[in-house]
Amino acid sequence: MADATGFHLKGSAPERYEHYVAPLMAPFVTALVDAADLYPGATVLDLACGTGFAARAAAAQAGPTGRVAGTDPNEAMLKVAVEHHPRLYPDIEFTAAPADDLPYPDATFDVVLCQQGAQFFPDLGAALRETARVLRPKGRFAATVWSNLEASPYFTAQLRAVRQYGGPDAAADFQEAFHAADRLTATLDAAGFRPITRRDLTFTITLPPLRDHVPGHLSAIPWGRTITETGGEEALTRAADTLRAALPADTTAFPFTATLVTADR
Ligand SMILES: C[S@@+](CC[C@H](N)C(=O)[O-])C[C@H]1O[C@@H](n2cnc3c(N)ncnc32)[C@H](O)[C@@H]1O
Repeated sequence: MADATGFHLKGSAPERYEHYVAPLMAPFVTALVDAADLYPGATVLDLACGTGFAARAAAAQAGPTGRVAGTDPNEAMLKVAVEHHPRLYPDIEFTAAPADDLPYPDATFDVVLCQQGAQFFPDLGAALRETARVLRPKGRFAATVWSNLEASPYFTAQLRAVRQYGGPDAAADFQEAFHAADRLTATLDAAGFRPITRRDLTFTITLPPLRDHVPGHLSAIPWGRTITETGGEEALTRAADTLRAALPADTTAFPFTATLVTADR
C-alpha cells in the first residue's frame, strides 16, 4: 500500500516510473502547461515533480531566459529526473523537499505546476498555503488529479488486480487517489486562491504493447509494490495477467480522465 508519504517509490521503481508512466502522463502534461499560460522568461516550480515530466515541458516554454525548479521529497525520483533532464535549456534545479516546506523565498515563482501530486500530500492545506507563499501575487497554480476511475477500462482493470492480489486496503487506497478534485478545489478556496477553475479532460491514449507495459506499469506504482510484498514477484505476474485478461483483446487504446484545476493567487 502507499506509505506515509502516500506515494513513495523505492529501489529501481523510479526508473520504471519514468519509462512506463510517461505515455499516460504525456497529453495531460501538455494540457497542464497550456493551462498555466507559460511564456518565455517565466519562473516555474514543478511541485511533486517526480521524474520531471512537467518540469521538462515547462522548460521548453519558459526557454533560456526562464527559470524552472522541481521539488519532490523522494530523492530517488529526483535522481532519475536529473538523468533525464534536457540539455537544451538552463539547468532545471531539482531539490528534495516536501510540498509543505519549500526552500524558496516568498513570491519566487510566476507559476506552480503540480501533475498528479496533490492527492498524495498528507496535509493538502499546508501544501497549498506554502504554494501561495512561493507564488508571486496573481501567480498561477495549475494541477491535474486523476478522476472518473469507473470510465477508464484500464484503471478499472488495474483496481481489480490490486484488490485481488494486494488486498482490500490497497484497493481502497488506490481508489481514494481518484477522488481528490473536490478536496483540491475546496482547499484552494480556503487558502485564498481566486478565481478557481476546473474541468475534466479525457484523452484516449494508445499504450505500448500490453504484454510488457502492464507488468512494467504495475511494478512502478506503490500498489504494485504492495502486491509484491504480499505475494512475491509471482503475484505481480499473476496480477498483470489478470489485468490484461480484463481488457479487450483487440485494442491498446483506452480513455483516461483527469481533472485540471487552475487557481490564481
Ligand atoms: C504520481 S507521482 C507524480 C510525479 C510527477 N508529478 C509526474 O507527473 O509524474 C506523485 C509524486 O508525489 C510525490 N510526493 C509524495 N508525497 C509528497 C509530499 N508530501 N510533498 C511533495 N511531493 C510528494 C512522490 O514522491 C511522487 O513523485
